[in-house]
Amino acid sequence: MSVFLGIDIGTSGTKTLAIDEQGKILADATETYPCYHPKPLWSEQDPDDWWRATVTTVRAVIKQARLKPADVKSIGLSGQMHGSVFLDKSGRVIRRALLWNDQRTAAECEEIERRAGGRRKLIKLVANPALTGFTAPKILWLRNHEPRNFDALRKVLLPKDEIRRRLTGEYATEVSDASGMLLLDVAKRTWSKTLLEKLELDADLLAQCYESEEVTGTLTRQAAKDLGLSSDCRVVGGAGDCAAGAVGNGIVNQGVLSTSIGTSGVMFVHSDEVKFDPEGRIHTFCHAVRGKWHMMGVTLSAGGSLQWFRNQLCQADMAAARKTGQDLYQALNREAAGAPPGSGGLFFLPYLSGERTPHADPLARGCLIGLTLAHTRGHLVRAIMEGVAYSLRDSLEIIRALGVPVRQIRAGGGGSRSELWRQIQADVFGQKVVTLNAEEGAAYGVALLAAVGAGAFADVREACRAAMHVVSETSPNRPAQKCYQQAFPIYQRLYQSLKDDFQQIAALPC
Ligand code: XUL
Repeated sequence: MSVFLGIDIGTSGTKTLAIDEQGKILADATETYPCYHPKPLWSEQDPDDWWRATVTTVRAVIKQARLKPADVKSIGLSGQMHGSVFLDKSGRVIRRALLWNDQRTAAECEEIERRAGGRRKLIKLVANPALTGFTAPKILWLRNHEPRNFDALRKVLLPKDEIRRRLTGEYATEVSDASGMLLLDVAKRTWSKTLLEKLELDADLLAQCYESEEVTGTLTRQAAKDLGLSSDCRVVGGAGDCAAGAVGNGIVNQGVLSTSIGTSGVMFVHSDEVKFDPEGRIHTFCHAVRGKWHMMGVTLSAGGSLQWFRNQLCQADMAAARKTGQDLYQALNREAAGAPPGSGGLFFLPYLSGERTPHADPLARGCLIGLTLAHTRGHLVRAIMEGVAYSLRDSLEIIRALGVPVRQIRAGGGGSRSELWRQIQADVFGQKVVTLNAEEGAAYGVALLAAVGAGAFADVREACRAAMHVVSETSPNRPAQKCYQQAFPIYQRLYQSLKDDFQQIAALPC
């Protein structure tokens, strides 16, 4: 029996799943961990928590599917992108990792653009502008603010690559996740020596970079023992969670686009050629498909906005739901479905952790605008879902304007399990949205890459063809589409009207 594991080191938890040679899911397990926000705009996690969750979920999956150690032939790793794991010369973690949604590095982003000779030159070198969430600004932040930690620094790894190091002892990464470090020449798929020199960063800080399905090592004896697997088990490159989620959704051909609503929201399109947005509003990264690229827009707080609403404003209901074993999200969905499209003129700007696409503004804030006494909790929930969909449409508009064909939109991520949120997306995008049988996202995508790496499929495209088919289609509802067509420009203007105030709010002494 040949089994392949996918492990996704997410922000809210780690998910592991096992698939067979046909891509059928045999078992899955998830383990959560905390995220720390010691100061406004800061977001950190402890890599030891990721490791504990990896061990627990792998063991759980093995038990559920009754696997023998030798059954598991290879592992694919995925994870939240951009996070920085700082390691010293003995491989010890120097401080908690700074995450993708950490916004402390505005000054370092300016420094990078200045050292690169301007924004346009930077985009030419690494295909993207400097954004606060990316990894290079985090390294500079360490140098500028924690010089002692920087002096001890010998390697910087991305979250999933830190787990790879604990699994295999290797310092390795792969092109899709490496693209989000802002240190990769994305067109050439190798580290940018030019930018490293301009930033005065030692190239040895970085791991060896592979293509996504390449084997990067095998399990150490200790890791094999911890996980209950064989030390012959291989670990393939894997992919950042966006590219991995796209593989898990079959986004491996031109013309197919995915929207994914997890903690963050991602609009992702495959591209056979490397194309840049000269304004840098959309990211261009290497895809997990060998020799291909993708473009993507990111809404930092997508599902995260609804989660915030539930955690902060529905505490009593959460406690009650816990007692009866009910899912509060389902109840909130039902309430939201009772509110009309447009939420009675209520708008939500989902900038709870600043924003990435299209505004790249760490100081932007979340807003509910247009409240009246007539609004109920259902209106608020619906407005949050609509605000997230508008934000994804912002990305879709840029992709369309760059001439990238969009023949099919596939919805994925936890948020798209909601029928209502899928309908809102179809109505806001004005285009049919489909879902596939594979709705496990990133962990599934890298399990497929692991299967390719072990030779079970010829390549990623074959793996996706074998494993996936469309299971649901949601067409736009004309009256709702019309309503959103009118509301969307208002949504877009709200940020423009408020952006100067966001700056002033951030500068308030109180
Ligand atoms: C992608 C991004 C997020 C994280 C978290 O650029 O920042 O999607 O990967 O999942």
